[in-house]
Amino acid sequence: MPIDFKGLNVVSFESRKSTEMAELIKAASGKPIIAPSMQEVALEHNTEALAFAELLFSGKIDVLILMTGVGTRLLAKAVAAKYLNEKFAQALESTQIVALGPKPVIALRELGLAPTMIVPKPNTWTDLLSTLDQRLPVQGKTVAVQEYGHSDPELIKTLEDRGAKVVPVPVYRWALPEDLGPLRHAMKCIIDEDAQGADFALFTSSTQVRHLFDVAKADGKESQLLDAFKRVCIGSVGPVASRAIVEQGLAVDYEPDTPKMSHLVREMARRGSDLLRKKRTAFQNGIDTNNWKRIHMAWQPDPKGQNVSGGQPTIEDSAFMKACRREPTPYTPVWIMRQAGRYQREYLKIRKKVTLLELCKTPELAAEVTLMAVDRLGVDAAIIFADILLVTEPMGLGLEFVKGEGPVIDNPVRTRQDVDRLTEPDVDELSYVFDAIRITRRALRPDIALIGFAGAPFTIASYIIEGGKSRDYAKTKAMMYRDKATWHALMDRMTKILVEYLNCQIAAGADAVQLFDSWVGALCPDDYRQYVLPHVRHIIDGIDKSAPVINFSTGNPALLPLMKQAGGDVIGLDWRADLAEAWSLLGDDVAVMGNIDPVVLYTSPEEIRSQVQAILDKAAGRPGHIFNLGHGISPDMPPEHVAELVDAVHELSAR
Ligand code: CP3
Repeated sequence: MPIDFKGLNVVSFESRKSTEMAELIKAASGKPIIAPSMQEVALEHNTEALAFAELLFSGKIDVLILMTGVGTRLLAKAVAAKYLNEKFAQALESTQIVALGPKPVIALRELGLAPTMIVPKPNTWTDLLSTLDQRLPVQGKTVAVQEYGHSDPELIKTLEDRGAKVVPVPVYRWALPEDLGPLRHAMKCIIDEDAQGADFALFTSSTQVRHLFDVAKADGKESQLLDAFKRVCIGSVGPVASRAIVEQGLAVDYEPDTPKMSHLVREMARRGSDLLRKKRTAFQNGIDTNNWKRIHMAWQPDPKGQNVSGGQPTIEDSAFMKACRREPTPYTPVWIMRQAGRYQREYLKIRKKVTLLELCKTPELAAEVTLMAVDRLGVDAAIIFADILLVTEPMGLGLEFVKGEGPVIDNPVRTRQDVDRLTEPDVDELSYVFDAIRITRRALRPDIALIGFAGAPFTIASYIIEGGKSRDYAKTKAMMYRDKATWHALMDRMTKILVEYLNCQIAAGADAVQLFDSWVGALCPDDYRQYVLPHVRHIIDGIDKSAPVINFSTGNPALLPLMKQAGGDVIGLDWRADLAEAWSLLGDDVAVMGNIDPVVLYTSPEEIRSQVQAILDKAAGRPGHIFNLGHGISPDMPPEHVAELVDAVHELSAR
């Protein structure tokens, strides 16, 4: 996905760095509409702060409530524009100071002061009032309230109701710019499609959002603006600006994982036209796009018969699917194992509210994170959000994901009796996965493939037998060697449910399926041939032929020829195999997926590019190459490097 706004109109509300923003947008082939929305207020002009200082010096302030750390610091600076710090500090010492939480306390400490009292957590208004009522009744007192950003008339009224005389002390850092012309012009571009219709709106601070709406309210155009934003793709630099956007009643269409202006422009340029098209199609289909989720987006032909892209793509156009069939593609398709995961801020936000199992079992959420990864990365395939160990539950095993430990099975299988005690699995117990696939497929761009998956029997067995992760698979191998009949009985049980499970995923809409044999590399070729191959072959033979199968393992290139015997349209390998050699060995009648070392994601864009190039060189443009990591992304890998990898594959392989 190139960094390209495709000549569309991009509004920026940045003020101080407006020139830089315009350059960034132009460099990404966008037409900038620059609308500075704020100006810094010189501190010496903060008349309210100075008036407060004078009241304080004359002993007329009994109580000072400090609401924020930033505001406290700014207040001190504003006063310092005219008076000595010592004088201010001295005057404050004879006042009762109430700090709303720890941040004003830190700011006060910089002045050499401490508050009389600190409002306890969660430092809300209610906490403030109950602290005052218990320890410092305000009846008959003069109470100054430091305000930052915006005033809180309700708080003032509540204090007045308690018999206080309230002196609001607003300290501003930002005011509307003197010339509102550019801001009004931008607003017109957003509201009026016939003017220079705005396609993107980029917010790089929360104040920009509030100022835009302040002007809209003053001009009586608030509701028009809200409606107009339903057709405009909204980018936010980070969580604070995003909160302000949502507070106005809008949706954030994109927030980069790294909160930087340059990342916002770059990623919006890369993802933007897709997001814009989605949002406008959804809007044309009657969806309230000021309050929408990815799963609301259904790809249906636009009723006016005119899609923004000028046509409806189909799965036949999918580069990923073509590569699975070894057909030529305009570039090497790429997707990434664990592309939805803890390295993403948006994923973590969801995971804070639900456990991993709850996430997997709530189809709307699972679909949302699946789609989110595609939106953010611009990959050629989605992989349904689920886990290879979910199938253990219908088998009667107790699955848990323990923080710091990974998956745990509390009743591991070690003996023949244990195997015989396993429940006859009912695949319907996994219907939440099928539902997630249905929702995802409906919302996904038609030319992006959706991959369903299952663990391969050895890898699942290793968890079932060990009870969790393992280094040497001692108990697993011990069962294999000591009690072949039990081993094969366990494998047979698994193959049965895995075939059904994968076929149900295909029936629900998965375009391709992957078998993850992540840990089978621990076996030698003879063991693979005897204990694993027949079962994997049985599964692959049982899978509906309409969907290509990716047979994936890691760690042991010596197994590759046997994996090919087991079957699969695509053989997935990791960085330990030399791609050129492995492919020669496998033969040209199979596609290959791989194989960069994920550790490269810790390095730099230059190193990522050079390693991507090396792998593309080994694939040498043979049809049937799918790019992937040899393993999942770790939570501490920089998200911008993941996007960089995807870009590098697309750009360097373009034919
Ligand atoms: O985006 C995707 O790739 C789709 C989702 C997916 C998950 N697990 C979600 C998940 C996929 C394809 C898997 C497969 C999987 N699960 C494998 C094979 C792939 C591989 O990495 O080789 C394996 C071995 C498992 C079993 C499993 N599940 C492990 C070892 C862990 C890690 C435990 C940990 O705490 O790191 C999990 C948990 C898990 N499954 C996560 C994700 C995104 C971790 C994130 C979380 O807890 O939210």
